[in-house]
Amino acid sequence: MSAQRSSPTGTPLRPTQPTSATADSATAPTRSKRELLDELAREAENSQPARDLGTLRDVMVFAVGNPDADIMFIGEAPGAEEEKQREPFVGPAGQLLTKIIQAMGLRRSEVYISNVCKFRPKIDDGRMQGSKNRAPTTGEMLACQPYIMAEINIIKPRAIVCLGATASTGLGIEGTVGRLRGRIQEWRGHPLAVTYHPSYLLRREAEDGGGLAEKRLVWEDMMRVMETVGLPISDKQRGYFSRAR
Ligand code: URA
Repeated sequence: MSAQRSSPTGTPLRPTQPTSATADSATAPTRSKRELLDELAREAENSQPARDLGTLRDVMVFAVGNPDADIMFIGEAPGAEEEKQREPFVGPAGQLLTKIIQAMGLRRSEVYISNVCKFRPKIDDGRMQGSKNRAPTTGEMLACQPYIMAEINIIKPRAIVCLGATASTGLGIEGTVGRLRGRIQEWRGHPLAVTYHPSYLLRREAEDGGGLAEKRLVWEDMMRVMETVGLPISDKQRGYFSRAR
């Protein structure tokens, strides 16, 4: 299935402009992925479209992980802890994501982790925000969209995992997680899976004392991703969250 170029609110997602980090990569083949990513991060830091919105906080949080990763995880935007540490997915949701990555037999340093929006969205005037977070708006994601697109072009992952519908919407893919999850789709030449955001799993866990059903669905999605990139899956891994446990 190909991605559709509009947001859930009907706002068309315009084609993204190439950034200089990717625009001239054809003429500078000797630059490493790390160098291209570093340049892109500097561009994101100074992003005028993002800064001009006035709705995003000042600190830019780019990405973490291996530029040669097979698997790229994409979330929505940094939260309070991510802003403090300037690294994606280090707060409570990030700790759960790290456990998921480890359950796949990988380390955080072996995958690439990023967000569609590179700045923590402001709440009210952003000064007294405390630990409150919110999802980025369509406009905020559009302002940052060139960076995530460029990262994908640089990393060339063998599988992309969108964590939650905000992340998939940020790539121009319409639909709820309920509709999009459970399969690998082809997106711009990349196998892509959409699954529930770890924050949602934490909320479900708090609500009904488990959220086991949703965890099982996420794990099924992750096994599909493992198969896609050729990672072995042991019987023990196949048994995680199985109904008999
Ligand atoms: N949630 C996200 O989507 N991204 C982060 O970096 C942290 C929490």
